[in-house]
Amino acid sequence: SETDKGPYPYYMLKEIDEQPNVMRKLAALYTQESGKPNIDTNLINALSEADRIYIVGAGTSYHAGLVGKKLFEKLAHVPTEVHIASEFAYDDPLLSEKPFFIFLSQSGETADSREVLVNVNANDYKSLTITNVENSTLFREATYTMLLHAGPEISVASTKAYTAQIAVEAILAKALGEAKEQTIAEDFDIRQQLGLVATGMQAIIDEKDMIEGLAKKYFVPAPRAFYIGRGIDQTVSLESALKLKEISYVQAEGFASGELKHGTIALIEEGTPVIGIITQRKTANLTRSNLQETMSRGASTFTIVRRELALDGDTIVIPDVDEMITPLLSVVPAQLIAYFTSLNKGLDVDRPRNLAKSVTVE
Ligand code: AGP
Repeated sequence: SETDKGPYPYYMLKEIDEQPNVMRKLAALYTQESGKPNIDTNLINALSEADRIYIVGAGTSYHAGLVGKKLFEKLAHVPTEVHIASEFAYDDPLLSEKPFFIFLSQSGETADSREVLVNVNANDYKSLTITNVENSTLFREATYTMLLHAGPEISVASTKAYTAQIAVEAILAKALGEAKEQTIAEDFDIRQQLGLVATGMQAIIDEKDMIEGLAKKYFVPAPRAFYIGRGIDQTVSLESALKLKEISYVQAEGFASGELKHGTIALIEEGTPVIGIITQRKTANLTRSNLQETMSRGASTFTIVRRELALDGDTIVIPDVDEMITPLLSVVPAQLIAYFTSLNKGLDVDRPRNLAKSVTVE
């Protein structure tokens, strides 16, 4: 059955492996053969009326929201804010005139996010919940809903829900951009891109053994580690670090690569792992030189780099896809690094200490 581990030692590895199929499924469900999005027109109309989008989530879902902001702003030209649910609920944010709320939640049960939705409903604002669980609380209480169709996610560390959330956001941003007659959205072939993503994910997954080697040699013995990047790559650095923290107990930080030299670089010691995520033409060289700065202070540096930008000596080369959706690929090596670090430390990968799958208290 769907909730069977099958031949896998842990659900997390199974769920990482399922990602290519989830991408194909979302492309088939939410786009037409022509490449046009296949999304509820009432939802698109409501979104079109908004002057600002507010994305709300916690943990990995918040990180998927950070990618969503880039997509909605690029493809649909709508200013978008992303908020940590537990902060937004009590911080009385100043809202725009016509806000629209998007809730991201794998479980649909996160109490912090629900608290925000209760306020949103009390003010009669429109909302969309993007969730993996039909009939969950956030599903029932939002104006509109979209399902992630990722199948049950059982491992505490979220993997396929993150990539599914980003894929759904990309389709939605394209649909909204088209409704707003944005050329960039019209030219963005999300259906074809998700096909490339699925193949690309599989190619990375096929490099498992190499990634396990890295994890064993460098990450298992490390007390701390860094992921760095700029722009969209910085958002992936946050998610990559969270994965490593929660299941392997390595104190990891995701960081804006240009900000490191303003203080945090003091933490770099002999052998500290620093991984640069490099998928954007505009900032590739900048991140490379920031990586170099850490190397000259003793760091063991690695790269996760998009093929077009790859150089000799790069560590993990990910296939080329549109620069707007590279998180769908760049996160996969980081998921595998976290998995194999946890596994080789003899930890319970799926059930890390102190954590629950969904957090139903505020
Ligand atoms: C992810 O690996 C975490 N375990 C956690 O941050 C999670 O993403 C967060 O609690 C939000 O859960 P939700 O998506 O079910 O709302």
